Formats: sequence, structure tokens, C-alpha cells
Amino acid sequence: MKVGIEAIAFDIPKFYIDMADLAHCRSIDPAKFIKGLGQVEMSVASPCEDAVTLAAGAAIKMMHGFNIDKESIGLCVVGTETPIDQSKPIASHIHEILGLPKNCRVFETKHACYGATAALAMATDWILSGRAQGKKALIIASDIARYGLNTAGEPTQGAGAVAMLISSNPRLLELESNYVGCYSEQVMDFWRPTYSKEAFADGHFSIQCYLNALAGSFDTYKESFKKHHSDAPEILNNRFAACLYHVPFVKMANKAHHKLIEHELNTKIEKEDPRMEDVQRDFNERVGYNLKLNSKVGNIYTGSLYLSLFNFLEQNSERHSGRAISLFSYGSGCTSEFF
Ligand code: HMG
Repeated sequence: MKVGIEAIAFDIPKFYIDMADLAHCRSIDPAKFIKGLGQVEMSVASPCEDAVTLAAGAAIKMMHGFNIDKESIGLCVVGTETPIDQSKPIASHIHEILGLPKNCRVFETKHACYGATAALAMATDWILSGRAQGKKALIIASDIARYGLNTAGEPTQGAGAVAMLISSNPRLLELESNYVGCYSEQVMDFWRPTYSKEAFADGHFSIQCYLNALAGSFDTYKESFKKHHSDAPEILNNRFAACLYHVPFVKMANKAHHKLIEHELNTKIEKEDPRMEDVQRDFNERVGYNLKLNSKVGNIYTGSLYLSLFNFLEQNSERHSGRAISLFSYGSGCTSEFF
């Protein structure tokens, strides 16, 4: 049986900050945010928007845009790290707003930015196991990323939601459940205790944790792939038409792709190395063009990877039809998945 994404849509707030304006207010060279971090604009939620309204907005767009029958949905999961309640899940509100069937399973998942990927993995297994009995899963990633004023994290905020319909009719993207690599480790790179509305980050350490988890999950992905294809050298180079990453800020995807190339070649490629030109070209060809939305929306935590996927599908679904792409999901704390 096939399984994957049948429909996808996203929603963002109506307001944004131009990163040059934020830089001027903070007396910082705008090039740091625009070139250094790769961010052009940043979505800002108004007081009447939260992770529920954004999730509902994305889900309604998806249901209407793809003409989905609400009776076909048997599972509704929202991945979020910025819910409005410690107990009641956002998915309950979505269940009511969309008028989903009463026999639908409804809950919320959390592991920092990885939450929606956990939901996606669960939905995939649910369908493949046959327990879905022909029903579909609505998976939503919804968050408002907020750090303290004047902190290093401030230019890496954002707000938005992505809704996806997972079914045995994956007309947008088929998911390969056989080949998956995970990597987890307890690290204090980013956290938000229950008393705080703002997240805290050990920023530079978090970048190292992300890159370390990427290498670890790619290694386990390779092991699972090689079980089925023993003669598969340089999987990164030969297999993927595009590589999508969790995008806390656009430059992070650049660092990630660079790291993965080094990891596969088992060599360090420093900035002044002539091979850096090839790394940059490969980044432009397989990663960079999928980051336009991320550069204008900012970090939307659980939805960031899937916003990049939306960008990819919108521009390239025909050009790359039949080819494999890779996705890397990272949740601080940390856990990660390469699939
Ligand atoms: P910072 O220390 O203010 O910035 O914070 P910096 O000094 O590292 O500069 C950033 C880049 O701008 C550097 O480029 C500078 O060289 C460049 P790089 O060396 O890295 O290539 N730069 C300039 N470029 C052009 N002109 C200039 C200029 N000045 C500097 N004038 C940091 C940056 C990302 C650490 C901060 O924003 C932060 O703490 N962000 C939050 C944490 C974060 O996003 N971590 C990412 C990995 S963890 C993750 O992805 C999980 C997460 O999404 C949460 C979850 O899982 O739920 C965060």
C-alpha cells in the first residue's frame, strides 16, 4: 500500500516585520539579519491570533482548496510547542471548527519543532497497519515562535501553520516508511519552561546540536537504506533531487547541507577551500530555491520544514516527478529524523 501527502496548505498572520526595520531599531547592520541569517521578513501574530486560529486557517484552506470530505478523516493531530492550554489539545478545537466526525481520534504532540513529524510518522504507520480502514489523517503543525526582546533569538521568530492530509492516495508526495533515520540525545540547547511565554536558547550550541543530530540521523537512514540496496554509494549525492531541512532561519539550511556533504565525503570543507564553490552550487540546485517562504515567514517551529516542502511542491512537483527528496526534522532537546 502507498502512503503519503494528498493535500497541503499553510496559513500565516496578516502582519510582518521587515528585517531591515528590526535591524535599524536594534542599531544592528541589516546585513546581519538579511545575509547573515538569510531572513527578509518575519511574520508577527496579532493579539487575536494564536496557534489555534493559525491551525484552523491552514486546515480550512486545505479542506476547501482540495475539496476534502470531512467524513473521510479518522485522525486529527496537531503538533505544537506553543499551545494555548497545558491540557486541552488544539486538535479538539480543530475537530469542532471543521465539524470532523465524532469517531475521529484527536490529540496533540510535542517535542519542540519535531512535534508534527512525530504526528506524521504515527499517521503513516496507522494507515500502513490497516487500522485506518480507508480513513485519512489530518496533521497540522502550528506555532508562534517567540524569544525575548533584544535577544539573539529575536530575529529568528515567526508565526504560522501547515496542514497536511495523509492518506493511501499520496498524490503530492509518497512517504517511504522503510527508510528512516532517527537520532536523539538529552541536550539543553533550547527550552521554554511553563512559566515563560518566551523561549530561551543557547544559540550557537543549538546549531551544533542540530548539525550533530543531522549527521546521526543521516547515518541511521543510510543503514536502513543499505538493508534494501547493498550497493548504494554516496546516497546524498545520487538519490535526492532536493534536500529539505528544518529551517529556524534560512542560513541554517545552508549550514545543514554543507555539513551533510562533508559528512558523506568524510572530509572538512572550510570556507577558503576551492570545493566550497561546489558545495554552494549544490545548495543552490537542491536546497536554496525551496526557502523563499521561510525567508519571508521566519521560524514557525513545527511547520518550518513543511513550509519548505510546500515551497518545493508548488514550484517543482512536475519537474521532479518520480524522484526522491529528503526531509530532515529537528526538535531541540533533542530528537531528529531523516526520511
Ligand atoms: P548571533 O550570535 O546574534 O549571530 O545569533 P552571529 O554573530 O552568529 O551572526 C549570525 C550570522 O550573521 C553569522 O554567519 C555572521 O557571520 C553573520 P555564519 O558565520 O553563522 O555563517 N553576520 C553578518 N553577515 C553579513 N553582514 C554583517 C554580519 N554580522 C554578522 N554585518 C543565532 C545567531 C542563530 C545563534 C541566534 O539568532 C539564536 O540564538 N537563534 C535561536 C536559536 C536557533 O535558531 N537555533 C538554530 C538551531 S536549533 C533549532 O533549529 C531548533 C529550534 O527551531 C527550536 C525547536 O526545536 O523548537 C530553534
